[in-house]
Amino acid sequence: MDTEILSPDASGYVRAASLLNDGGLVSFPTETVYGLGADARQNIAVARIFEAKNRPTFNPLIVHVADVAAAKRYVHWTDMADRLASAFWPGPLTLVLPLRDDSGLSALVTANLPTLAIRVPEHPVAKALLSEFDGPVAAPSANPSGKISPTHAQHVINGLSGRIEAVVNGGQCGVGVESTILGLFDAPTLLRPGGLPQEAIEAALGCPVVTRSEADPLTAPGQMLSHYAPGASVRLNAVETAEGERLLGFGKVEGATLNLSVAGDLTEAAANLFHHLHALDADGEAPIAVSPIPDHGLGRAINDRLRRAAAPRGI
Ligand code: TXA
Ligand code: MG
Repeated sequence: MDTEILSPDASGYVRAASLLNDGGLVSFPTETVYGLGADARQNIAVARIFEAKNRPTFNPLIVHVADVAAAKRYVHWTDMADRLASAFWPGPLTLVLPLRDDSGLSALVTANLPTLAIRVPEHPVAKALLSEFDGPVAAPSANPSGKISPTHAQHVINGLSGRIEAVVNGGQCGVGVESTILGLFDAPTLLRPGGLPQEAIEAALGCPVVTRSEADPLTAPGQMLSHYAPGASVRLNAVETAEGERLLGFGKVEGATLNLSVAGDLTEAAANLFHHLHALDADGEAPIAVSPIPDHGLGRAINDRLRRAAAPRGI
């Protein structure tokens, strides 16, 4: 199959929506990373996402919708969901809520769980595509399973060309790490740190969120430890480099091969994270050392992804 590269304009959106309607796979930019979209109501289309990514089928997908009204068709809405959606949608926050019996979604989307992860993306291309398609789009990040998430159309092409129908080219993603995933169970529970800082959620809710421990895999299936991995080995919290290592720097460090943010800005570092990992990955096998990153705000999402990149492979 030839993967079409569509431009982010009216004819591109019409073509993308028509491919989705026909059960095709279309990658599109969101403000976090590129997603690999399929019509969330079509079983075979959703199954093809798992096949294209080589993704274990027990790992459920996020459904993307245009607005809160659309979200309410698929999940049981709550007051807390309302508060969070008013504060942060559209934006890099995914809410996990009880799935409605009449959702009409493919059971593959939720891997048969009674809950659904749902979000309203902010990127103008994602918004335009959702409005043209006018339906729920299931979309994981558009990378082969276990590899680095794509923040550029070219990353999608490099990883999935020939396996998907199209990619809408919307340039580089602004946030650069995936959405924050919050489970709205008895207590709001952080299932994955991401593009919306935990502190912002706590400020909006006026209460602390519970954080998921690595030891509790059941609350977030598919949070495999080794993930986002480049080919080379990765060593964290490096204050100096060993012979032959390449340094992925943060702040004013000397001798960095690439720097996430010379100014020490966590927003800039998040936006550059996957981009730099892709660049290092394309440029050889020498081990990668990474400067320490402060563990607050977006730093938590960055450190979460880096720990996965550094973890022993195949876990
Ligand atoms: O920013 C993002 O969230 C991107 C863009 C494309 O929207 N998407 C993304 O999807 O990162 P993916 O599939 O790479 O990660 C989704 C995560 C997985 O770790 C999955 O286990 C979790 O969401 N998830 C999905 N449904 C869930 C559910 N019902 N309960 C708990 N975790 C869930
Ligand atoms: Mg992913």
